[in-house]
Amino acid sequence: MSSKKTVKDNLIVGVDLGTSRSAISANTRKKRWVDSYVGWPRDFIAKKVVGKSILFGEEALANRLSLELSRPLASGVIKEGIERDEKAVRELFKHLVDLVKAKKNSAVRAVVGVPAESLKANKIAIKSAFADYTESLMVVSEPFAVAYGLDALNNTMIIDIGAGTIDFCIMHGTVPTDEDQRTILTAGDYIDEQLFNGMKARYPGADFNMEMVRRFKEKFSFVGELEEPVEIDLPVASKMTPHDITEEMKNACESILPAIIETTQELISNFDPEFQNLIRSNIILAGGGSQIKGICSYMQEKLSEDGPAGVQRVEDPLFAGADGALALAKDMPESYWSED
Ligand SMILES: Nc1ncnc2c1ncn2[C@@H]1O[C@H](COP(=O)(O)OP(=O)(O)OP(=O)(O)O)[C@@H](O)[C@H]1O
Ligand SMILES: [Mg+2]
Repeated sequence: MSSKKTVKDNLIVGVDLGTSRSAISANTRKKRWVDSYVGWPRDFIAKKVVGKSILFGEEALANRLSLELSRPLASGVIKEGIERDEKAVRELFKHLVDLVKAKKNSAVRAVVGVPAESLKANKIAIKSAFADYTESLMVVSEPFAVAYGLDALNNTMIIDIGAGTIDFCIMHGTVPTDEDQRTILTAGDYIDEQLFNGMKARYPGADFNMEMVRRFKEKFSFVGELEEPVEIDLPVASKMTPHDITEEMKNACESILPAIIETTQELISNFDPEFQNLIRSNIILAGGGSQIKGICSYMQEKLSEDGPAGVQRVEDPLFAGADGALALAKDMPESYWSED
């Protein structure tokens, strides 16, 4: 349904639904992101304590002991059949839209980015989940949204290093097909597990949890060589004690590299031989994992064994997907909206 009076007041949004973080960019220039957690109070005492009927993001995580907590996007896919997670995705989307919506906005148009390979499986689930909150909706692959936002639509490869998945996508001047895209499952969460296990093995007496390990990673992640050692404080028998985790950090971060290199090489080698050097020279890393120190030069060096190579990272990994989805939403011809 389209109404003439609404066009000017339409809220147009680009949304990046992620395993760990979800972001929204609106045509009003507002941008917001939340950790992808949704929680409901467990009982009436919990409700009195938290003072709300639903909590999101960091606030939900901080109150997790009082809540039924959902991280609803396993590998960027709505965990289908799990009613609570389906409800959580709906609430998360509504929450994101509410964060950027103004009173005068009468209808919402959204382009939503999801991981490349799960696009088909997700499309229907996502469409039905958000139908109540949108006048029109399109679902696209996440790396395609990133590429669109950067205007990198030709002879480029986008590699989106997220929490649950790494998504690869070759752009060659048209909407990418299945052959142009791959997803692998050893991403940020996997690094966290490796780092956790490495630290446990070396420092069995130290006390730490997965959340702490993720924060250490986000502060000190690196591959290759580092000038300064990575030293952190951990409680041992409740006393804060310095620990060196340089080796563990390096090994954990480097554990995702062989699969990244292999998948990149495979995608390029399947491509038209005359364009392989061009694509290898135009690789763009996106997603939180693109922030790992040294990852661009490490990959560039490895890939240059095959021919000329260039690897860069996006400027704003948090919003590159949502901004790209918004750009796509703004440019989308009217006929696409109505036919979808
Ligand atoms: N500086 C950093 N170094 C290494 N990893 C980081 C850094 N900052 C964020 N990350 C990691 O990036 C991941 C989150 O990235 P992003 O927000 O792109 O993922 P997502 O979109 O939620 O996940 P997915 O795309 O798999 O659904 C997390 O694993 C996070 O710990
Ligand atoms: Mg993502």
